[in-house]
Amino acid sequence: MGKMTAAPILVKCLKRMEYRGYDSVGLATISKKRILIKKGVGKVDDVNKLLHLEKLNGSVGIGHTRWATHGGVTYKNAHPHQDCKNEIAIVHNGIIENYNELKKSLITKGHKFKSETDSEVIAHMIGEFLNKNNNIKKAVINVANKLKGTYAFVAILNDGTLVGARYDEPLIVGVAKDGYYISSDVLGFIEYTDQAIFLDNNEFVIIDSESLTIYDANGSKVKKRITRIAWELADVDKGKFAHHTLKEINEQKHMISKAFSIRQSDFQEFVNVLASSKKILITGSGSSYHAALIAKQLLSKFCKLQCETILSSEFQYSSNVLTKDSVLLAISQSGETADLLQIVKTVKESKAKILSLVNVTTSSLARASNLFLGINCGPEIGVAATKSFTAQLSLIYRITNELSIPTMRININEIGKFVNNILNSSKNIVKIAEQIKHIGNIYVLGRGLHFPIALEAALKLKELVYVHAEGIPAGELKHGPLALMDENTIVIMLNPQDETYEDTLSNVYEIKARNAIIVGVSNVNNNKYDEWIKIPKAKDLVYPLLEVIPLQLLAYYTAVKRESNPDYPRNLAKSVTVK
Ligand code: AGP
Repeated sequence: MGKMTAAPILVKCLKRMEYRGYDSVGLATISKKRILIKKGVGKVDDVNKLLHLEKLNGSVGIGHTRWATHGGVTYKNAHPHQDCKNEIAIVHNGIIENYNELKKSLITKGHKFKSETDSEVIAHMIGEFLNKNNNIKKAVINVANKLKGTYAFVAILNDGTLVGARYDEPLIVGVAKDGYYISSDVLGFIEYTDQAIFLDNNEFVIIDSESLTIYDANGSKVKKRITRIAWELADVDKGKFAHHTLKEINEQKHMISKAFSIRQSDFQEFVNVLASSKKILITGSGSSYHAALIAKQLLSKFCKLQCETILSSEFQYSSNVLTKDSVLLAISQSGETADLLQIVKTVKESKAKILSLVNVTTSSLARASNLFLGINCGPEIGVAATKSFTAQLSLIYRITNELSIPTMRININEIGKFVNNILNSSKNIVKIAEQIKHIGNIYVLGRGLHFPIALEAALKLKELVYVHAEGIPAGELKHGPLALMDENTIVIMLNPQDETYEDTLSNVYEIKARNAIIVGVSNVNNNKYDEWIKIPKAKDLVYPLLEVIPLQLLAYYTAVKRESNPDYPRNLAKSVTVK
C-alpha cells in the first residue's frame, strides 16, 4: 500500500517469493472502491504473460503464490479469495484445521463458496462480522478467535484498508518512505525497504490511508520495534548462472571460511552452554537433519558430549524428555519449519535451553531460541538446500573445533582451495549425469561421517531428479541391500582414504561381483569403479564437506538433463511451514 501502483511491485515481489510455493498465482487491487482480481495456474512469469497481472490499477493490493495443501491446483483454488459481496479479498499461508465446521456454519448463513480451499473461509468470516458491525478491528479479533490451526493472512477491503494477522506462520511489515508492505518473508519487500516489523503470534496490523496500527489479541495497541534487515539484495539474483541452485552450489567456496571467520557475539556463550549441558538433543528436518547427524558424531566423538538426534517430525511420537540441564539444538535454514517450531513450543515448557543454528536470523526459530548462531549463507532461493547445508556443517565444525581436543583442529584455508578444485572439475560430473539421467534407482553408500552425506546426496537426487535414491550405511549391505544389486543398479560409494576406506572397499568388491555400476567418490581411483569422482586428499574429518559438493552438482546437472527446473522442483516448497 502506498503512492505507487501496486500491481507491478506485487508481481516483482511474488517472483522473489516463488521458491516458497508456485502452483498458482493471483493478485487483487482496489480501484475506485472496487476489487479487481486476476489469478491463474502456473508460475508468476507465465500467468503474468497470459493475464497481464501487472496491468491491474490501484495503489493498494495483495498477491500470493500458492503451494497446494487443501484443494487441487486449479484457477478456483488460487488465491486471492473473496467474500460473497466482493468487498473483501484475502491471501493466506497455513492450514485452518477447523475450516470444514466454519464453512458449514457460513453456508447455513447463506454464504456461497467458490473454492475447495480452507483459506476462503477467512474472507467470508470477515464479511460476516463486518455485516454485523462495520468495524474491521472487531471483525479481525472475532475471526482470529474462531480460527484453529496456523495462519498468516492479509485482507484488503474495497475502502482500501489492509489487514494482516498471524498465528504460527510468519508475517512481517515492511516500512518504506512511500508505503507499507506485508509479507511472509523479508525477501518479499527487501528491494523497497530494509525496515521491518515482525508481528508476533495473535498480533494483527491495520493499515489505511492515514496510519499503520498494530494490535494484540484483545485489540490493544502494541508498540513494535523496527528491525533493519541486513541481507544484500544482490544475493537474490542469479547473476551469470543458469539457476539459483547452480549459483548457490558455487557460492559454497566462501561458506566454509565465512563460517569460521564471521564474528558472532553469542558464539562463546553458545559453546559454553553446549559444553555444560548434560544431554543435547539435536533436531532438524531434511538436509538440516543430515547436518544434525554429522553434529552428533563430531560432538560426541571429539568433544565427549552426550548427544542424541531426532527427526523433527518424529519428536512428538518419541519418549524424549528434556530437563532444565539439557539442551535442544535446532538446525534449520529457514527457521520456519513447522515440525521444528512445534518442538520448540513443547520444549519451552520444560525449561531446557533452546539453541539454534539458523540462516534467517529474524525467523520464528531464531526469535524463540535462548541463543542462536547465524549460518550466514545469505538468502538461499533454490528449494534444494546446498550452500545452507555446507554452511551448517562449517559452523558445526567450528563449534567442534572450539570444544574439542587440539588434534581435531582443521585447516580452513586448505578446504576452501579443495572446494574450488571440485567446483572447477564439473565436466566429469556432467558426463556422469548423462549416464544416469534415465536410471530408476540410485543407491548411495557410506560409513561413519559419510553415511549422513549418503543420505543428503540421496535427498538431492530425489528432490531435483525425481529418481528413487536411497542412502544406505555401507556396513548394512550384507544385511539385505545387497539383494538390490544387479547390472541395472547404480551405486555411488563414498570412499575417501580415511578410517572407513578398507571396509568400504570390500563393499565395492561385493557390489561389483553383482555387476552393478559403481561411481566411486574418493581421493584415489580403483579399477572396480566404473566412474571416479575425484576429491582432494584431505584430513579425514573434512571429507563430508568435500564429497557433498560433487553430489549436489550431479543432482543439479542430471535434473537439467531431464529438463526439470532445479530451482522449483515439483510438489516441494523451500520452507515447509505447514505440518
Ligand atoms: C532440502 O534440500 C530440502 N529443501 C528440505 O529437506 C529442507 O532441508 C527441510 O525442509 C528443512 O528445512 P529448514 O532447514 O529450513 O528447516
